[in-house]
Amino acid sequence: MPTNRVSTRPFEGQKPGTSGLRKKVSEFQQPGYLENFVQAIFNALPPGGGRALVVGGDGRYYNREAIQTIIRMAAANGCQRMWIGRGGLLSTPAVSCLIRKFGAEGGIVLSASHNPGGPEGDFGIKFNGTNGGPATEAVTAAIYQASLQLDHYLTCDSEDVSLDRLGDSMVEDMVVSVIDPVADYAELMESLFDFPALSQLLQHKRFRICFDAMHAVTGPYAKAILEERLGAPEGTVINAEPLPDFGGGHPDPNLVHAAELVARMNGDEPFAFGAASDGDGDRNMVLGTGFYINPCDSLAVLTANLHLLPGYRDGVAGVARSMPTSRAVDRVAKAKGIPCYETPTGWKFFGNLMDDGRITLCGEESFGTGSSHVREKDGLWAVLCWLNIIASRQQPARAIVRSHWQRFGRDYFSRHDYEEVDAVAANQLMDQLRGSLTSLPGQRFGEHVVASADDFSYTDPVDGSVSEGQGLRVLFEDDARIVFRLSGTGTAGATLRVYYDRPQRDPARLELDTQRTLASLFAAADEMAGISRHTGRSTPDVIT
Ligand code: G6P
Ligand code: ZN
Repeated sequence: MPTNRVSTRPFEGQKPGTSGLRKKVSEFQQPGYLENFVQAIFNALPPGGGRALVVGGDGRYYNREAIQTIIRMAAANGCQRMWIGRGGLLSTPAVSCLIRKFGAEGGIVLSASHNPGGPEGDFGIKFNGTNGGPATEAVTAAIYQASLQLDHYLTCDSEDVSLDRLGDSMVEDMVVSVIDPVADYAELMESLFDFPALSQLLQHKRFRICFDAMHAVTGPYAKAILEERLGAPEGTVINAEPLPDFGGGHPDPNLVHAAELVARMNGDEPFAFGAASDGDGDRNMVLGTGFYINPCDSLAVLTANLHLLPGYRDGVAGVARSMPTSRAVDRVAKAKGIPCYETPTGWKFFGNLMDDGRITLCGEESFGTGSSHVREKDGLWAVLCWLNIIASRQQPARAIVRSHWQRFGRDYFSRHDYEEVDAVAANQLMDQLRGSLTSLPGQRFGEHVVASADDFSYTDPVDGSVSEGQGLRVLFEDDARIVFRLSGTGTAGATLRVYYDRPQRDPARLELDTQRTLASLFAAADEMAGISRHTGRSTPDVIT
């Protein structure tokens, strides 16, 4: 096979973060930049690995060019078989579904998730392994090491593959199949949920829903499943067409960025349920009528009700949440007598627990929820879960959450983000706080007295691997908690995330304002960590 060996030199900063390599588009467009990372993936795979791959992205700017580069490089690196979503589109959960269904050796996801796209926006690339999940830390470390040692990459001179026509073609010795991005995923959803009950619900005149695809990848999935298969009225899915710049929007499903959804929910039309997903379709935000459902609560409610859904009738083996996620789900797990694991931030940590059969369900405060049906979080799946629970209980979302709080108590939760902070200042803040952890217990901050404080370290119970430095936790005697960490997904400066949660069991105090309820903790955080002193900011940029 005629391959070209192209000389290259390592680029700085190709260390994958929480979720793969994410950089500005302009950085990816430097000659050799993408090629180096792709070659590093092939070099890091075990000998003979990478022969059958699923490739797709969220349709953002540079997606198609990147896919053509990957096709040529994969063929030159000995890949025999590649599946690509038509138009170069595949949601992240769909990639995971296809890797598992086809028994592929892995997949490459092209996305910067919820970060803006377009020529001035972000691009990203992530490798998923044979289980369909994001590469483990050991694999991402090997990719990074390989990226530092490159002196050449392999490619070939083949013509571009037409990404818009379904069917097979050959690129050197590799068979490339352009497939329908939705069909296999939709079939998996049908196997998990009660589609007849969902159809009845979605065709009910008094149950209108609105799904905001934010001009990102879930548009075609949501239209095909909610409107075409389940019969929700046309127009249920808004911003359904994936666009390279997401229509100029920021495809992050939260109350700020999903502004159109929020406006519609608060408008004249009586929507019973609203939802949005992010750039690559793995995140979700769900709303009841006039009611925002915090992702931590969503995980707890799903855990309490999952057995109602056909795919989960055998029950939930166990659950997991990322450490900064509130402890609402822990109480449900305890009541059900199932294990609850606390992992570092990042979906990759859930994979081993699922592969080992220890958990069925997991989630994060960062709008991620998922189950062992795939090895990624899954936005549309979470929406279908909610709808199926609503159909099964014949109760609106709001009533379901309220009765959940009555039974288990409520964990008031909020995350404050300080974005694009000077990286040196942010690290100084973390270093100083880390240095003071041992002296914190016993100290009083307003009404809160510190009970314990540590730097979270996780030992994977399946393979024994240890991940250190995963966030600073401060637990108070009244069971309130503050967590400090630096984001691993930002592309400019540092993002400081401060997570607050405070459990409340008093049935008369379950409907209070979250920010007001947590205000005394905000003051405590600033006092103990010097947030304003280090960052120069008096208020966070984003509050979720
Ligand atoms: C991505 C990952 C999640 C993670 C989130 C925030 O969506 O898939 O697992 O929780 O980013 O990560 P960060 O490091 O920015 O807090
Ligand atoms: Zn995402």
